[in-house]
Formats: sequence, C-alpha cells, structure tokens
Amino acid sequence: MTGICREGPEARRACMAREGRKRLYFIVAMGCQMNVRDSETLAGMLEEMGFSRAGTREDADLILYLTCCVRENAENKALGNVIWLKELKKIKPDLVICVGGCMMQVQGVAESLIARYPFIALIFGTHNLHRFPELLCRVLEEKRPVAEILDGDGDIVEGLPVKRGSAHSAFVNVMYGCDNFCSYCIVPYVRGRERSRSPEEILREVRGLVEGGTQEVVLLGQNVNSYGGGGNAFAALLRSVHETGIRRIRFMTSHPKDLSAELIACYGDLPNLAGHLHLPVQAGSDRVLAAMNRRYTREHYLKLVEKLRGVRPDVGLTTDIIVGFPGETRQDFRETLSLVREVGYDAAFTFIYSPRAGTGAYGLPDPVSMEEKTEWIEELIALQREITGRVLKAQIGSCQEVLADAPSARDPGWLGGKTGRGLMVNFPGAPDMIGRFVQVDIGSAGRNTLRGKVREEG
Ligand code: SAH
Ligand code: SF4
Ligand code: F3S
Repeated sequence: MTGICREGPEARRACMAREGRKRLYFIVAMGCQMNVRDSETLAGMLEEMGFSRAGTREDADLILYLTCCVRENAENKALGNVIWLKELKKIKPDLVICVGGCMMQVQGVAESLIARYPFIALIFGTHNLHRFPELLCRVLEEKRPVAEILDGDGDIVEGLPVKRGSAHSAFVNVMYGCDNFCSYCIVPYVRGRERSRSPEEILREVRGLVEGGTQEVVLLGQNVNSYGGGGNAFAALLRSVHETGIRRIRFMTSHPKDLSAELIACYGDLPNLAGHLHLPVQAGSDRVLAAMNRRYTREHYLKLVEKLRGVRPDVGLTTDIIVGFPGETRQDFRETLSLVREVGYDAAFTFIYSPRAGTGAYGLPDPVSMEEKTEWIEELIALQREITGRVLKAQIGSCQEVLADAPSARDPGWLGGKTGRGLMVNFPGAPDMIGRFVQVDIGSAGRNTLRGKVREEG
C-alpha cells in the first residue's frame, strides 16, 4: 500500500481523499529558526496532501512537534508536550501525533519514545524531512506507528513545498549542519556535517520571493560564514542576494572565528543589508573560550566589533552567552561582564550551561553550584537590561524605517515591526500597513521596545 505514496503528490492526495474528510494540522516548532523553517516545509507538504491549518491545537486532527535538545530544559519541554498529548488522545482517539526535530536524532531517544508512548503515530528526524509524506501515508494506511531516523548528514533536497509563516519576511536556508563542535554543543550531532545549497538555488528562491512581494529575507545557517566551504563565499552570496532587489537582508548565525573582512565590507557597501549582526561570543575569558573550542580570543572578537562599527557606526549587535561552563571561575565570569559592557549589545540571549551527553565538555569537573550560576546569570541579565535601556533611549527623536510585521498583541489598533537594527517598534497603524516599510518617529522607549508614530507621507 505504501507504494502509491512514492508516486508523488497526486497519489498522496488520493491516499488522503480515501480518508474521506478535510483534516486539520497544527505544528509546534520548538528551538531555533532551523525548526521554524522546517515546520514551513512540513506545513507545505501537509497542505499538498490536502490538510489545512487548524486554528488551535485542540481543533487539530494531526499535531506535529518539532523538538529541540540544545539544553536540558528544551528537552523537558518537549517531553512535557508529548505527555500532554497523551491526555488529548484520550478525548480524541483518532488524533495523529507526530514528533520530529533534533531531539529525535539523539541516540536512543526515538526508541525510548516508541517504547514509552505508543500513542505517537510517527517519529522522524532532521535528515528525512522530505520523506514525511510517505511516512505519514504509511501511518494512515497501515494504522500503526512508524518511526524512521536516518543517521549521517542528510541530503539537500530541493523543490520541497513550503507554506511560509509570513508573506513579507522569509527564512531562506543557505546551509545545513555544523562542523564546529563547540565543546558544549549538541547541534553538530543532531544536524550533521556542514553542507551548503548552491548559489543558483538560493538566488532562484530569493528572486521568486521578491516577485511574490516579500520584503525581507533571513538567510539561515548554523554558521553562515562557512557557507560554500568558507572564505569569501558567503560575502559573495550576500552581494548576489542584494542584486535581486530584496528590500532587507538579514542572516544568522555568524561564528566570530570565520567572520571575514569581505563580510564586514558588505556592511559598508550594501544598503539593503540590515544594520544588525548576531555574533555569539559565549564567554569573555580566553581560558573559557579555549575550553569551549571557540577558536578565537576576546581580543579578536573586540577587533571584529571595532571594524564593523568602522563601516556601519550604528550597527546593532546581539549575542549568545553561556554562564557557568565547567571550570569557569568568578574571575572568568567578570570578564564576560566587562566584555558585555565594552561591546554594548542591543540584546543578549543568556543561558546557564547545560551538560549534553556525547559532547566534548560532558563530564568535565563542574564545581560551581547551580545557585551560584543563577546569581551570575541574574547579574548578567541586569547588566544587559541596563544597556538595552540605554540603546533604546538613544533612539528617541530619530526616524526609523520599520517593516510593519503584525498587529500588537497588547494594544488594539497598534502594529509592531522591526527597525533595520532589529529593534522592536510599536506604533498606531491600520492592518493594511502590514508587510510595508513605514517611517516611524520614535517618541518613547520601554524595557524592550520602542514606541512611535508613522510619519505622514508627502
Ligand atoms: N549555531 C548557532 C546557534 C547554536 S544554539 C551558533 O553557533 O551561535 C544557540 C545557543 O545556545 C548557542 O549560541 C549557545 O549560547 C547556546 N547553547 C548551546 N549549547 C548549550 C549548552 N549545552 N548549554 C547552554 N547553552 C547552550
Ligand atoms: Fe553549536 Fe558551535 Fe555549531 Fe553553533 S557553531 S551550532 S554553538 S557547535
Ligand atoms: Fe535546538 Fe536543533 Fe535548533 S537542537 S537550537 S532546534 S538546531
């Protein structure tokens, strides 16, 4: 029976038609933008099979979780969700529950889920996304659970359907996987080795988006600076993407060890390249950076920041920081605080170190207590809050180009959007402004957002 599903979308629609009625899906993407972009491909495949998006989880006939395993709390959240579904399944026995994402690639996890939670219909990993329709057809026809996890790196499969979450801002994968093996990080183990899409495919996708009215692209990769084997390939790609005429370009993530002079030069030459760079530093002490296998020094990082500000003085920087890496001392942590002060980030994503089995740092002596690490991270968060406050206040009185993104959740009649630098702005506006660039006079600053008024045109 599964053979028909291999014959492509038509046969799969026929397989769905036999199910007899319109079915609704709901996808929950946990973790990072990689999972969000994967969820758009899965939504595209489901819609091609005849499913429609459900308004809520409770309405859905099929619920799909894309899990993350980067930290223990992410894993716990994923498991908590799966257990919640067990209850829903009791009320809705026909509910089809699918679980995919990074956590499924961890050795033994899929097997243990199958054994412990037989109500899960389909388990798949990050390397076989393209096989999802076929696997789902098998589940629906054979009425039994199916699990398929592929080891290795996964192929780049082009031309998969996509149902994007936004009409005006689009994620575009440029590369998959990671070869860096930072000693705390599980991502290389669950997303495989680095592999890049061809510039032709990427440009074809971006041109199609521009023709369809998309205003912004976010180029995605675990380390975009290794795109095409590294060197100047990513800077060259950025220049080609810029030539498509797309109004705003963002990208993430950039590893400081490979951030090239050519890429920095792009910030001087390419007006549509947004004035923002997410440049994870992880730690401010050279000793800790070395133990993390980051392969750059504090001095190198600070030089990059200086050069970048040399070509784009108002560039906004954001970062990721891990607190309490094994062996980190109070003195090391002070160096993180001083680096944060020195750079003056717009925002910092801060995490307490979470041991991940199989990674280089797993099992290293870690004498600092969780209480102390919590105190450290609170100190860091307070410092960053103060800096973010100053950055936001400095915008008051300026006029910013904002891409109107969505209605404000808090204030009816208001919209939210981002400046090129990535700062959130709320302003009164009509829904027909969504997806357009507007000039906003910034009037005040809150804790994390700016408020302003759209400048009258003409
Ligand atoms: N490829 C990206 C993102 C990796 S995951 C990059 O290199 O920046 C996002 C962030 O999670 C990392 O930057 C790091 O700060 C954090 N992280 C990864 N593994 C972690 C761990 N074991 N414990 C705590 N934080 C972790
Ligand atoms: Fe993880 Fe380091 Fe790769 Fe980022 S660069 S995904 S932190 S191993
Ligand atoms: Fe999590 Fe996978 Fe992203 S582990 S952070 S969802 S690449």
